[in-house]
Amino acid sequence: MDPRVPVLTIDGPSGAGKGTIAKAVAEKLGWHYLDSGALYRALGVAAMNDGVDLSEETELVALANKIKLEFKQIPAGEWGVFLDGKEIQQHLQTEQVGAVASKLAVFPAVRDTLKQKQRGFQHHPGLVADGRDMGSVVFTEAEYKVYLTASAEIRGKRRYKQLIEKGISANLAHVIQDIEERDSRDKNRSIAPLVIPQDALYLDTSNMAVKEVLEQVLNVVNNKT
Ligand code: DC
Repeated sequence: MDPRVPVLTIDGPSGAGKGTIAKAVAEKLGWHYLDSGALYRALGVAAMNDGVDLSEETELVALANKIKLEFKQIPAGEWGVFLDGKEIQQHLQTEQVGAVASKLAVFPAVRDTLKQKQRGFQHHPGLVADGRDMGSVVFTEAEYKVYLTASAEIRGKRRYKQLIEKGISANLAHVIQDIEERDSRDKNRSIAPLVIPQDALYLDTSNMAVKEVLEQVLNVVNNKT
């Protein structure tokens, strides 16, 4: 890790609001943004496209090494994820792909391969990295660390609203159930489980407005510099 490039890690369970906050903070600071979950999801899409068995670690690693993943600006002003040159943003958000990503994320060699890709995002003037193990494994030396969470019900409702707004059909009870299953898998896997990194600011956002969370996260960086 290049000590001259500051990193802010934002970890937490699915639906905690990491993406919204991380993107807004990156924009305010003028830093790069890494959505590490999108890398796991994109690998999931590639595995489904190629019919790779999700229990075959060696095949998943070979696939992770073979595919080309890029984040590029798309005309709408949003960032799009490209898999081998093809824009796949719309496919990434489905609950099915989230569940597949969480399943392949249990394999140590898969995590290691994606970790190298994640570290490649650290460029001047700084990086905001969102995920499950950004502060605890991938960027352990990061100067700024935050852990965001909220109750499973609130996270489920937020995720449901996002899906509906994007025109993706969803069922609230299923979304909450899926979040609870994913929490359990992400927290209980033997390698790089979801943990609260040491020295991280812990924020339960269940009853907080986005603006308030954003302010507190920005303070983590601004109060130290
Ligand atoms: O943040 P997300 O919901 O897009 O992530 C999808 C899955 O990818 C998540 O359930 C577990 C896995 N993941 C991970 O293991 N480590 C990360 N740093 C990011 C995501």
